[in-house]
Amino acid sequence: MNTLLLSESEAGVRMQTVHGLPNLREIILHWRRQGHSIAFVPTMGNLHGGHLSLLARARELADRTVMSIFVNPIQFGRGEDYEHYPSTLAEDSRKLSANGLDLLFAPDLAQLYPGGFDTDTRVTVPELSDILCGKFRPGHFSGVATVVSKLLINVQPDVALFGEKDYQQVLVIKRMAKDLCFPVRILGMPIVREADGLAMSSRNAYLSAEERALAPVIYRTLQQSALKLRQSGAQFAQVEADGMRTLQQAGLRPEYFSIRRAEDLGEPGPGDRDLSILVAAWLGKARLIDNIRVELPAG
Ligand code: PAF
Repeated sequence: MNTLLLSESEAGVRMQTVHGLPNLREIILHWRRQGHSIAFVPTMGNLHGGHLSLLARARELADRTVMSIFVNPIQFGRGEDYEHYPSTLAEDSRKLSANGLDLLFAPDLAQLYPGGFDTDTRVTVPELSDILCGKFRPGHFSGVATVVSKLLINVQPDVALFGEKDYQQVLVIKRMAKDLCFPVRILGMPIVREADGLAMSSRNAYLSAEERALAPVIYRTLQQSALKLRQSGAQFAQVEADGMRTLQQAGLRPEYFSIRRAEDLGEPGPGDRDLSILVAAWLGKARLIDNIRVELPAG
């Protein structure tokens, strides 16, 4: 167990990997006793540039960085891709070590779900969890809020970072942390995109070459819709309908294309200026999500 506690000179140079909560807690306690601040990035692995940008920011914000890799079964619905979710721990671990992570926490199911899944305790953020993605993935955000609570309680970070591709998820987690009085700052970080605009996502790996070539239409449509809103003060319902139609015509199967208040994802009224356009669309076997922030000019 003591081998987990690296000396000051070693820490930050060599990444440690732990699989159990007792080992995780021991290292966190050790760092806390030394007065170190901690930044945390929860992930499901299969890491891409978006995850690495979160790690880079985490390293700027705190003395020590922790990333978790755990594919959380309870946030997947029946028939979703839990069984096929890519597991690339060895490759992820190499990337994280090369990018200066201090501690990788890669638990197995029994660590985070000691009582199984049937009657276990869940954390639910009402209302916000039931709209947009929540409408199409019932129980998804409760699964996310539950696992993130478990992770925050054990990692006890000062700050936890999440990518804004999952914008609704960031708002759910912020609300959960506020309501449960977790002493942590939840930070949403900008979406990282491929050169052609496609938001980086582990699920992009499900796209065939042909689908991958089509996929940037999502971000293009978001950009065009944002422009319409800013320039012509177009009606929200019209822009939403146009966005749905553009994606359908391109061969995608959109679930929603929706303009919301950025602050709380409520339906915007005529006076609302800080907006977000959010989309979820199927392309082949991949369910892709994306969003864009729109600041409407005053008056
Ligand atoms: O965004 C993700 O990768 C997951 O939803 C999270 C936050 C790690 C919870 O499992």
